[in-house]
Amino acid sequence: MKNDWRQKLHLEPGSGWLNDPNGLSYFKGYYHVYFQYSPESALGKGPKCWGHWQSKDMLSWEFTGTVLYPDIPEDRNGVYSGCGLVEGDTLYLYYTGNVKEKGDYDYITAGRGANVILVTTKDGHHMSPKQVLLRNSDYPADCSCHVRDPKVWKEGSVYKMALGARKLDDTGCVLFYTSENLTSWRFEQEVSVPDFGYMWECPDVLWLNGKHYLSISPQGVKHTEYTHQNVYSSGYFVNDKEFEEWDHGFDFYAPQSFEAPDGRRLLIGWMGIGDIPYTNPTAQMGWQHCLTLPREITVGKDGRLLQKPIREFQALREKKKEFSQGAMMQTQLPFELIATTPGRFTILFGEMLKLQYTDDVFSMIFLDEKTGSGRDRRNVKLTRCDELCVIADTSSLEIYLNGGEKVMSSRFYPAVREVSLFTENLRGVLYELKGLEVRNLG
Ligand code: FRU
Repeated sequence: MKNDWRQKLHLEPGSGWLNDPNGLSYFKGYYHVYFQYSPESALGKGPKCWGHWQSKDMLSWEFTGTVLYPDIPEDRNGVYSGCGLVEGDTLYLYYTGNVKEKGDYDYITAGRGANVILVTTKDGHHMSPKQVLLRNSDYPADCSCHVRDPKVWKEGSVYKMALGARKLDDTGCVLFYTSENLTSWRFEQEVSVPDFGYMWECPDVLWLNGKHYLSISPQGVKHTEYTHQNVYSSGYFVNDKEFEEWDHGFDFYAPQSFEAPDGRRLLIGWMGIGDIPYTNPTAQMGWQHCLTLPREITVGKDGRLLQKPIREFQALREKKKEFSQGAMMQTQLPFELIATTPGRFTILFGEMLKLQYTDDVFSMIFLDEKTGSGRDRRNVKLTRCDELCVIADTSSLEIYLNGGEKVMSSRFYPAVREVSLFTENLRGVLYELKGLEVRNLG
């Protein structure tokens, strides 16, 4: 069957461009997923809005449309990223209103407005009037005009807000604010790390086992052979000294977390990155980008975080095949492969792609130019690899190693839905998966 690259398991717009997940929340019986949306342009050139999906079970979704447009002076050049906080019977949505003044500006130190704006909703898609809460004059004097992506949470009886920023000396930082009433905010402190990028976008604070983890999407971090291989990266501080990347694949950025009603901390990322040297051929067909699967986050033995696909997805499993050692299998996208391994292993997707673990390095290697659409190879160091889970959708792969100790996410573009898999040194099961139900593609 010819592959039209329409994802079956991942949320993506019917047309136009998607980037960051926004406003993630569980509210009045629904999971709410908002996203950065340019409905008019698959290249992301039109006005930036918020689109909205909702679901009762994270398997069957409804697209309710574009719910926030740039329509006041303080957000006239884009309804940028932000978060959701549920309080009583109201969902509070905080976002950045982006403004670009007309004139000869560098838009870093002058000419750009970044306003924190609040809207509330009682049903997830009908919005209150917009209220501007913070403007550039409210940020510390050492900040450039790049201040954005509010994340708000509750700690005891007070509310906290984190904002990502670029300082005038070209270091990235997070600004922390406090409020007692959700609308007036007091600056508390600025957090930064020497020599770690010029801009920190999309901050988040994840509370897990009584400890908080600061997550950021930094721009300008030095690339090394095994870390920060993409143009921009994202990850969290394990402690004062160590930063761990969320994902080591080609396509992951700007993740955001929220709490499910049963207390699980779930994370969703954008399966894409800005300013990449590779491409997504769906753009010629009218749409571009998707979100990652929702991932459950837990704390591992060494204090690092583990990620695994939400258990709800097990309901999508259909045909099951068991395999051991060396196997040759025909399957159909989408599928899930779960396996254990004594050490080194290889998986070949026909002549398109090789996944391998050898000499303490896991690699994803594209074998032909078309399938990767400009993607070549990603590597991650791992001193042991004894289990893996691969979720392959019609045009993406998510690979979870050692119970989610390391993850690699990438788009890929196979010409047909049938895949010949050759595995070496793996024992496990392969499931063909049925897709999510999505009402009103948009
Ligand atoms: C991250 C980001 C955010 C910004 C949004 C605009 O991808 O650059 O910092 O709010 O995208 O779409």
